[in-house]
Amino acid sequence: MSYTAEDTGKSGYDHYMLKEIYEQPNALRQCFAGRADALEGKITLEEVDSIPEPGAVQFVACGTSYHAALYGAAVLREIGIPADAYLASEYALSPPPLTLGTLVIGITQSGETADTLGALREAMSRGASTLALTNVVNSTAARECDHVVYIRAGPEIGVAATKTFSSQLVGCTLLIEQVVDRPRDCRPLIESLRDLPSDVQQVLDSSSAELLVEKYGNSEAYFFIGRGTNVAVALEGALKCKEISYEHAEGFAAGELKHGPLALVTPKTPVFAIVTGNDERARKTLANIKEVQARGAPVIAVTDGQSDAADIADATLMISETHERIAPILANVQLQLFSYHVANALGRPIDKPRNLAKSVTVE
Ligand code: F6R
Repeated sequence: MSYTAEDTGKSGYDHYMLKEIYEQPNALRQCFAGRADALEGKITLEEVDSIPEPGAVQFVACGTSYHAALYGAAVLREIGIPADAYLASEYALSPPPLTLGTLVIGITQSGETADTLGALREAMSRGASTLALTNVVNSTAARECDHVVYIRAGPEIGVAATKTFSSQLVGCTLLIEQVVDRPRDCRPLIESLRDLPSDVQQVLDSSSAELLVEKYGNSEAYFFIGRGTNVAVALEGALKCKEISYEHAEGFAAGELKHGPLALVTPKTPVFAIVTGNDERARKTLANIKEVQARGAPVIAVTDGQSDAADIADATLMISETHERIAPILANVQLQLFSYHVANALGRPIDKPRNLAKSVTVE
């Protein structure tokens, strides 16, 4: 795929990050294009259609890509495939045991992150089959791994990963559908993937995230909670917020609140609760919302409206109702917008946060 000068310019946006947030409908369309047959209800990634169903999956990644790995591992475990996500820097020095048929998947936007390459090389040296899920064609990870799947998000210039995270989640979903060899109907998932670009566009067109900055932009800290695949979104929401705004932000699994973080919760620490669907996880997260509200914290629900989250929260960032695996992508777009507008109001150098580099090629 080739890109024009316009793809790498700011196209009238104040920052690359904002441009890249707004490019997401198109990036997601490209990631999905030609990879699903809606009539047959089948997803096919030709580049990996010969991989047998793995006995287990180990993801290795850093930063935002690690959050995509957490999402992928959570989805695989729900399907019944043993899967874990590892921080690449930890994996390289103390790799977990490999069982027969383990597939090691490195998620890396750049394909050049030293820690991720180190973890993948460690897995290769122990005989594991490896796969790179990456954005950069012919990157080191793409060249060295046994298999490669491209997320096709296009160039990302802002240091903070935005569109590539969304595309990593779609890439993970497609990859999982390709390698898991069990009879099932993918039609509902395919329909939601097909609608995803317009659902993201709707968030971009109607989000009230910027308005929330007036009310909550001057807080002492920001917390993000979720359960299941939304844990990945909570962690990513916090990472995005802290790296570009320099404000304290922390994300955790909602169930962990009472095991420590609750001590930090005050009326000056807004809590973003990601609540999608209306299952047991959603119900338990509603209980967590009440817990933090009882300590005076304002709660912003990021929700599809299926549960009562919007009724009990102090403010709401709405997303459309979609497949449970796709909802985290939409929720994350709302959090990207909030982080961007907080950082912009504070006058931070959004595209180049201090001390950070786009590609971390040293350990
Ligand atoms: C945060 C961010 C970083 C990267 C991390 C891994 O917004 O972009 O946390 O995700 O440095 O980079 P890649 O994906 O290139 O391996």
